[in-house]
Amino acid sequence: MAQIFRPGATTVARVAIAGGFIGLFGLLVLGDALQKSAYVTEVNLSKAQNPPFSHKHHTSLGIDCRYCHTTAETSSFAGIPPTRTCMNCHSMIWADAPMLQPVRDSWATGQPLKWTRVHDLPQFVYYNHSIHVNKGIGCATCHGRVDQMPLVHRENTLYMGWCLDCHRDPAKFIRPRDKITQMDYAASAGEQAELGAELIQKYHVNTNDFRMLDCYNCHR
Ligand code: HEC
Ligand code: HEC
Ligand code: HEC
Ligand code: HEC
Ligand code: HEC
Repeated sequence: MAQIFRPGATTVARVAIAGGFIGLFGLLVLGDALQKSAYVTEVNLSKAQNPPFSHKHHTSLGIDCRYCHTTAETSSFAGIPPTRTCMNCHSMIWADAPMLQPVRDSWATGQPLKWTRVHDLPQFVYYNHSIHVNKGIGCATCHGRVDQMPLVHRENTLYMGWCLDCHRDPAKFIRPRDKITQMDYAASAGEQAELGAELIQKYHVNTNDFRMLDCYNCHR
């Protein structure tokens, strides 16, 4: 009978099969890396803004976050300041700077400034600032050191797993309410264990897993 496979064929086949598996494995690893990369999660990627508003400059003037994000404690949205807030200073400071032309145009026409959103949860997720802020979760815990960012970037993925990590054990993160906007606040690990337990009681934080991890909580 004629030989169908040449003597080396099994080796070729083995190499091909092994190669296939290695290739597949490689793809999986690559896919996983891509899934976690900044390209997909957008963590650490800042967005261009017009004008190029710098949190670093403005917070270094000693302005509290709530001067501009006025509704962070009272509403689901933290709020983006209206042009009037900028004009409180920029009608006098840097009043003719070319960089601030979009602010003056907005003020003159009444058209709000157009900011590119940095954080944007999908529509099917319910999120609320006031509940977090009033229960002692600081801005920096979720947004990072905004006071050091020339342009804002996302510090965390905002994926479901990230929300749940905290919802399983919020005591690790809770701080006194009067330190909510203090960017460099840090309790040592030992202090936090005691303080967290104390503040959970004081602020009546719901630690019931059924409530905190229930799908309906975030997908209403
Ligand atoms: C002088 C006003 C002002 C102050 C003070 C200020 N912000 Fe902002 N913030 C803005 C403006 C304007 C934007 C929209 C443009 C941008 O994204 O940079 C913004 C955007 C943001 C965003 C991103 C919003 C998005 O698109 O997802 C976060 C987070 C944020 N600010 C947090 C803070 C924190 C935390 C502080 C206090 C450390 C603070 N801000 C202080 C004006 C201010
Ligand atoms: C409390 C006063 C104050 C308010 C309110 C304020 N600014 Fe400023 N802004 C300043 C000062 C002071 C500077 C100059 C900073 C420096 O020394 O470089 C500045 C600088 C800027 C610059 C130049 C680039 C930079 O960041 O240094 C831009 C753009 C700007 N502001 C935009 C805005 C916008 C937009 C708002 C409203 C959301 C706003 N500012 C609100 C005081 C203010
Ligand atoms: C528990 C985490 C968490 C804390 C604490 C938190 N934020 Fe946010 N923030 C978010 C998430 C998540 C979004 C995106 C919301 C969305 O896309 O609907 C967001 C969005 C924002 C925005 C964009 C506008 C808006 O309201 O959607 C600003 C501005 C902002 N946060 C500022 C602040 C400031 C200032 C503080 C502190 C006073 C703060 N955040 C505390 C998680 C947090
Ligand atoms: C660093 C901790 C932390 C992170 C991160 C966090 N949460 Fe929370 N969340 C809390 C705490 C604390 C409460 C208050 C629980 C209570 O006492 O009701 C809360 C409450 C809530 C509630 C209200 C529950 C109710 O009372 O009905 C919703 C909705 C919610 N979180 C959604 C989210 C979503 C969505 C994310 C992610 C985008 C998120 N949270 C990330 C700590 C966190
Ligand atoms: C603490 C808030 C929170 C709770 C509780 C929660 N989710 Fe989510 N979920 C989120 C957020 C935030 C996202 C959006 C992630 C993103 O940006 O892709 C999400 C996304 C999803 C998605 C879309 C696929 C994905 O992973 O992005 C599904 C499906 C989902 N959730 C199902 C559930 C189910 C089922 C439960 C209950 C077992 C649940 N979630 C509980 C916050 C929550």
